Amino acid sequence: MQYSIHIGERKFPPSVHVVGNFTDAALWWGGGAVVAGGVTALGLLVYALVVEPLNIQMERLTVRLPRAAGRLPRQGLRILQLSDSHFQGGARSRLEVAKIERVRALTAGLEYDLLVHTGDFIHYDTGLENVLRLLDAVPPPRLGAFGVLGNHDYTHYAMQEALPRMWRTFRAEERVADRRRNALERAFAAATRWVRYIRYVRNTPLDGRRAGSNDANRLTVALERWGMTLLHNRTIHLLRPEIGLDVYLSGVDDVVEGRPRLGDSLREVPDGAPVILLSHNPDIIASPQLPKVDLVLSGHTHGGQIKLPLWGPAHTQSEYISRRHVAGYFQVGATQVYITRGLGEGIPLRFRAGPQIAWIEVTA
Ligand SMILES: [Fe+2]
Repeated sequence: MQYSIHIGERKFPPSVHVVGNFTDAALWWGGGAVVAGGVTALGLLVYALVVEPLNIQMERLTVRLPRAAGRLPRQGLRILQLSDSHFQGGARSRLEVAKIERVRALTAGLEYDLLVHTGDFIHYDTGLENVLRLLDAVPPPRLGAFGVLGNHDYTHYAMQEALPRMWRTFRAEERVADRRRNALERAFAAATRWVRYIRYVRNTPLDGRRAGSNDANRLTVALERWGMTLLHNRTIHLLRPEIGLDVYLSGVDDVVEGRPRLGDSLREVPDGAPVILLSHNPDIIASPQLPKVDLVLSGHTHGGQIKLPLWGPAHTQSEYISRRHVAGYFQVGATQVYITRGLGEGIPLRFRAGPQIAWIEVTA
């Protein structure tokens, strides 16, 4: 009783009393929000850096090729597709070996016909050893191993320069467009520039500066020595009458860094024969020879690699693939296309676009 009277008699101006309480509460809640935000951001970063990149899943799908009726084994043609391993070795080697062990566990005991790797085997030359480890980790295919090179097998890029370079390109295009705009249109274009730049980034391949070359010849020799046939603008006739197999497997060089010649690779395929095409970059769908192909197997997009709520895939890394088809199965005319999200990543983050290998059963 004595205590409460004492407090009541203290001469604090009311305003100071009220402001003092509010400040304490605001500091408390504000500080809490900052800490919670920081912890959440750190948690998401750790998840995207080391949790999701290791969470490799196997996607299973069946693809029907009507033109292959009577030309496939009774149980179908079973393909194991690896892609975009992006191995670098060095400081990344521990993570890469963990990925390899995950693939080993996912594929243990698998019986299948073709092993294919659709490019970006390496990120740097120093990743070659882990590429060979990866190929050794999967059970041997019954009919052979085939591959095509990707852009990263030729080149490495300074990706930290991509956004400023894209801004410069975007602004140069805008300046040209401004010459055709009247004053009102120019003002509107200026007011909406950032929104349009964001849309441009979402739908344009990231433009990292070419910072150096990888040794594609050394990689090719090592893969061929391992037992993989590289389909560099060429086609293999998969003919095994004893199991009822008679289809064509083609491959093209990379669309961005190589010299893709789909016409050359399909030259020896008889009209109407079923063709499965390996192309690292799915932009091969823009080729005029595409209707000759029944099924395209690709990688390259990494499924957008980072998929943000409301935003969707960070980018498609492709000129001709819509954001809806950044990974998975779709059709272009009569040609069927499958894009795997692949195993690895260049920019070392994955978020809601986890790595994968694919098990594809081709039937008639
Ligand atoms: Fe890639």
